[in-house]
Amino acid sequence: MEVVILAEAAEIGGVAADAFAALLEGKPHAVLGLATGSSPLAIYDELAARYAAGRISFRRARGFTLDEYVGLPADHPERYRNVIDTVFVSRVDFAPGAVQGPDGLAEDIPAACAAYEDAIQQAGGVDLQVVGIGTDGHIGFNEPGSSLASRTRIKTLTRQTRLDNARFFGGDLDAVPTHCLTQGLATIMAARHVILVALGRTKAEAVHQLVEGGVSAMWPATVLQHHPHVTVLLDDAAAQRLQLVDYYRETYRSKPDWQGL
Ligand code: F6R
Repeated sequence: MEVVILAEAAEIGGVAADAFAALLEGKPHAVLGLATGSSPLAIYDELAARYAAGRISFRRARGFTLDEYVGLPADHPERYRNVIDTVFVSRVDFAPGAVQGPDGLAEDIPAACAAYEDAIQQAGGVDLQVVGIGTDGHIGFNEPGSSLASRTRIKTLTRQTRLDNARFFGGDLDAVPTHCLTQGLATIMAARHVILVALGRTKAEAVHQLVEGGVSAMWPATVLQHHPHVTVLLDDAAAQRLQLVDYYRETYRSKPDWQGL
């Protein structure tokens, strides 16, 4: 697990966008794993800016989102399918239908989850997966207690996650859905490279557990310690509880330019 601590979100966006650019240069038909939420916004802003400047193209790429609320109407602005369109997909040149998400309105939810797993497999698996982390240590919406071997399925959101996300629903906890469909921890682990972004001090404990805690279903993101290629991009506040913070800073400072993420 490589830990990179940077001063601000825009810098994190630039470093992550470099990883997207390097991937797409060698593999224009790459499969991208896209997170919603606030953490990756600087990455999407930077990628949209590079696209506008003619420096990157998603024309042949595919995308799969991590998760979706159950039951939000198709035109609800907080439906993750609509969020990812607004913050990223509509700003670049993905082909129509190239980005998919789990169907939170499916009548047969187990079948929809299985179909989503199949679609990812048939696309060749995810090359680069962006994830945020919840204050309770979730990735995707794999809440504490999730099986480390889980695949796409329905989950109940914790009260903490619903409180954290109420800001997207005008501060109204009751408006936040109680359930979601989420890629499982094993689904995320199958991605070839995972970039996890965390910003702000509310993430500091989850980040400490992620990087330095024991692997446990109580902190689901810790499963990433078993992944061979994970990059953790943090601002100073999210890094403030790391015990080996000086070591991570020195490691990144002394890293040769050619190495990339
Ligand atoms: C969103 C997702 C969630 C968020 C996490 C952090 O697709 O899967 O795990 O990444 O809840 O959310 P933010 O970035 O809004 O703090």
